[in-house]
Order: sequence, then structure tokens, then C-alpha cells
Amino acid sequence: MADDKIVLTGIKPTGMPHIGNYLGAFKNSIDLSQNHKTFMFIADLHALNAVHDAKVVKQHSYEAAAFMIAMGVNLENTTLFRQSDVNEIYQLTEFLMNVTPKGLMNRAHSYKAMIDKNTAAGIDVDSGVNMGLYTYPVLMAADILLYNSDVVPVGKDQKQHVEFARDIAGYFNNIYGETFKLPEPIISQDCGIVPGLDGRKMSKSYDNTIPLLCSSNELKKKIMRIITDSKTPEESKNPDESTIFQLYKQFANDDEIAVLRKRFLNGGMGYGEAKTILFEKIDSVLSGPRAEYERLMANTSEIDTILEHGAEQAQKIARKTITKVKKKMLGL
Ligand code: TRP
Repeated sequence: MADDKIVLTGIKPTGMPHIGNYLGAFKNSIDLSQNHKTFMFIADLHALNAVHDAKVVKQHSYEAAAFMIAMGVNLENTTLFRQSDVNEIYQLTEFLMNVTPKGLMNRAHSYKAMIDKNTAAGIDVDSGVNMGLYTYPVLMAADILLYNSDVVPVGKDQKQHVEFARDIAGYFNNIYGETFKLPEPIISQDCGIVPGLDGRKMSKSYDNTIPLLCSSNELKKKIMRIITDSKTPEESKNPDESTIFQLYKQFANDDEIAVLRKRFLNGGMGYGEAKTILFEKIDSVLSGPRAEYERLMANTSEIDTILEHGAEQAQKIARKTITKVKKKMLGL
């Protein structure tokens, strides 16, 4: 990807992500931040349709900022800020409402899932659906368009939202003339599906997750719970069907992966030993970030300083966009 592309991503503050979330979504944006101008924000406004407790939103926002910093986002290239700190986001969202067809919102996966659940339960289709949820994609389009971003690294579940942002930019441009760039989603390709402790996709809804930054002890306990088949230590094992090996591949280098692959195939290694190898690998990779995360969470004023500086930078760009949009829509 060309170096001059502007990268943008939002992190919804929902508590500590698990390893699957990290590999499926956040790692990509952290990697891209190493050599691209990046806008990264804590999407606290996006949490509001479901979380109505300010303390929780605030705490989770600190956590989200702390883990992105701890996992190595490049702060030299990255404008890291809190979404709600840039007032222009509320303005652009309102402006975009007027070029966004209602039918587009009806097609949004997350809204449709809610409707399907209500229908199956035999209750009113819109039960529990607030306008924040319904118009979530407009807010997200505003996020993306406000900062002139080219590419938006997201998890698979957010691809449709980025496509909607592109559609909305197109509707606007059609009416008012060329104004917004059409953003492109970037979906992590290489990690495929990250398996959880029971071998199914790692997901909160299956209760099979490993938190990204937990204590060494908790990490060990989780890894020891990984479900395996009943092969004896002597038997040869298929690495490609093993959750242990699949997780190891995400953290080890090529040589280490080749060595463990051989040991699976050759036999002579029990699953207990394989789990210990996996634990030691993940623990060593994440021990630095874990310590940095804990340090930041004990010094949230340091996070505030970073986010405030980011908001100032973000506001400069946001103001320009709003000036342009006001002129086109209101003639002012
Ligand atoms: N909706 C995203 C999620 O739930 C978070 C998000 C908000 C986002 N605004 C964004 C992601 C803009 C990318 C770009 O994970």
C-alpha cells in the first residue's frame, strides 16, 4: 500500500479485547501506523447506544487507549484521540443524515440482527432499538469522512459499515460535487479465524476467549484449558488441526513455527508440553505490553495528555472539512 495513504480506525471501548479481536482487527492498524499517517480514536460515542453508565464508558475508554499504546501503535505517526473531544463529529453526522437513505440503515447487519432476534422472540421488531443504534453507520461514516481517510483497517464485522461510509460519500458527492474521498476497508487477511479454547472461533459469545493482556497466571490457566484430542504423547499429531499450534503461529517467528510443527508431526511431545510451550511464547511476547498497560492505567493523566494533544490535531482537520461542507450545503 502506498505510503502516502491516510489510515483511520476507531476502537469501540468495550473492555479488554481478546486475542481474536486483537489479531482480527487491531493488529492491522497498529502495523499500518508504523509507516502511515494514522488517525486512531477511541469511539466513545459509538458505545452510547448500549452503555448508559458514564463511569463505564470513561474507564473502558482509558483501557482502549492504554492497550493500543501498550501494543505499540506508533505515536509519531498517529493522531490518537477521543472521538467525543472533536465537536465537528456531531456536526458532520447531522449533515450526513440528510443525504443518507433510510433504506441503507435498514440493511445494516447489526440492526438487522436485532430485528431478527425480536421477530424470533415474537416481540415488537424495534424493541430495544434506539436511534443511536439505528443511525450508528452515519456516525461511523462521519468519523471516516471528517479526516479525509483513504483506508480503514477493521475486523470483518465492520466491513459493511466502511462500505456504507463509501456509499454516503458517493451520495454527497453526487449532489454537491466532488467533496469526499471514497474510503476503502482493509480487512486482516493472514490470520484467518483465530480458534478459542474449545477449538471454535474465539468469541465472547462462546465463552472460549483468552484476554489479550491478562496476568501470567490467568494466561496459563486459560491455555491449560485448551481442548485437545486424546492422542498419547508418543503419537504423531496434526499441527493444522491443533488449536495450540494455530495460536502459536500467531506469536512465534517462522523458525520457531517450523520447529514446533516438526515436533507435532514426529510424536514424542504430549499436549501438556505443547501447552507449556505456547504459554511461554505468548507470555514472553505480551509481558512488555502488559507492564506498559498497567503502568498507563495507574497514570491515566498521561493518557489524558496524549488524547488531548491528539484532539487538538484532529480538530484542525475536522474544522476544514466542516467549513467545506457548510459552504456546499448551506452556502455559508
Ligand atoms: N464500529 C467500530 C466497532 O464497533 C468502531 C468504529 C467507530 C470505527 N468508528 C469507526 C472503526 C471508524 C473504523 C472507522 O468496532
